[in-house]
Amino acid sequence: MASKTFVRTLRTASKQKISAPSIPKRSFVSATATRPVVAAQRTALAAASQQQTRGIKTVDFAGTTETVYEREDWPREKLLDYFKNDTLALIGYGSQGHGQGLNLRDNGLNVIIGVRKNGASWKEAEQDGWIPGKNLFEVDEAISRGSIIMNLLSDAAQSETWPAIKPQLTKGKTLYFSHGFSPVFKELTKVDVPKDIDVILVAPKGSGRTVRSLFREGRGINSSVAIYQDVTGKAEEKAVALGVAIGSGYLYKTTFEKEVYSDLYGERGCLMGGIHGMFLAQYEVLRERGHSPSEAFNETVEEATQSLYPLIGANGMDWMYAACSTTARRGAIDWSGKFKDTLKPVFNELYDSVKTGKETKRSLEYNSQPDYREKYEKELEEIRNLEIWRAGKAVRSLRPENQ
Ligand SMILES: NC(=O)c1ccc[n+]([C@@H]2O[C@H](COP(=O)([O-])OP(=O)(O)OC[C@H]3O[C@@H](n4cnc5c(N)ncnc54)[C@H](OP(=O)(O)O)[C@@H]3O)[C@@H](O)[C@H]2O)c1
Repeated sequence: MASKTFVRTLRTASKQKISAPSIPKRSFVSATATRPVVAAQRTALAAASQQQTRGIKTVDFAGTTETVYEREDWPREKLLDYFKNDTLALIGYGSQGHGQGLNLRDNGLNVIIGVRKNGASWKEAEQDGWIPGKNLFEVDEAISRGSIIMNLLSDAAQSETWPAIKPQLTKGKTLYFSHGFSPVFKELTKVDVPKDIDVILVAPKGSGRTVRSLFREGRGINSSVAIYQDVTGKAEEKAVALGVAIGSGYLYKTTFEKEVYSDLYGERGCLMGGIHGMFLAQYEVLRERGHSPSEAFNETVEEATQSLYPLIGANGMDWMYAACSTTARRGAIDWSGKFKDTLKPVFNELYDSVKTGKETKRSLEYNSQPDYREKYEKELEEIRNLEIWRAGKAVRSLRPENQ
């Protein structure tokens, strides 16, 4: 498909993106010492929150009215006041721990990190300016100091460490997750939360790296918010406030169950597994039919990710169909039905596999093995060595900006 028009349109679309001043990086010490917020940051935050000027609580999503919570209802001063008596103990410093932790720190909240001392995360946290004994502790110590315990260990580690963590979750503390996985599949994970504490969830809809980069750009990730247990009557308010504090632009409501089902389903489907399978199938057929690797890669991945997908993201599928040639439009509309009908049974099989806990069982069993990192590395090496991704490397190196 000829893509010059798309590239032009993409340039225009990206120029139209709202740009806001980035929020300066601060150390935790200066963050806590300078409350209330310094002037420059106030200006940056005001600019950021002005992007969220709708100020509405319900949105009509294609005929279904849903409640959404927006950042503008939680300006920074209100957040600082709301959490003034809290210590947020963020346990785990992987993808989400890094993004959420740094955003909380830059927002001026009293946040501490809890990780095991000899792990990779401890070193990474130190590199990010967390100071041992001040705001970086071993897991148990952090939990004992925290009033809100943000469990951002990997899902397998949440299950493994639960027997040690549970007794420390005493009355008055709040337990926070970014995935419904552990409590929803408690038969498998054994994460049976204490009955006398609030249990809440904020699940950013993206990688922890994006949670951080969007925040730094003055933008915000979309997140879902859910309540598992509300013993104080304040669980929802607390969850929404935390959602904004970790860098969400807006939050939509869900339940722990729906969050985990949709999340496991999505990442196995269109977000990664499904799309990878579709890339591979299309590429292999092109290669088997005599097309060169560069052509097969360009027509399968490069044009999709560099040109069409960002436009679909910015404008929707109808716009995309309207913006392409009539030849492309005719064929794409005709074939979309066949793909949908063929794939729908696979998606139903996948949803069942998620709902019955089969996916959770597989994930727990695999990711709790002591050599799971090495095993993943072997699989990733195999993917890295597939012709499609080796061709992709060459294609990417030809992008003018990479030369
Ligand atoms: N990644 C995402 O994009 C994403 C998006 C939305 C929600 N979530 C959810 O956010 C939560 C955190 O996910 P993540 O991807 O950020 O996790 P991750 O990158 O896999 O982080 C793993 C963390 O767990 C620690 N850990 C692993 N095994 C441990 C053990 N046995 N004892 C103590 N610590 C251990 C690691 O520390 P060491 O370095 O010491 O091993 C590391 O700090 C999960 O519930 C996940 O489902 C993730």
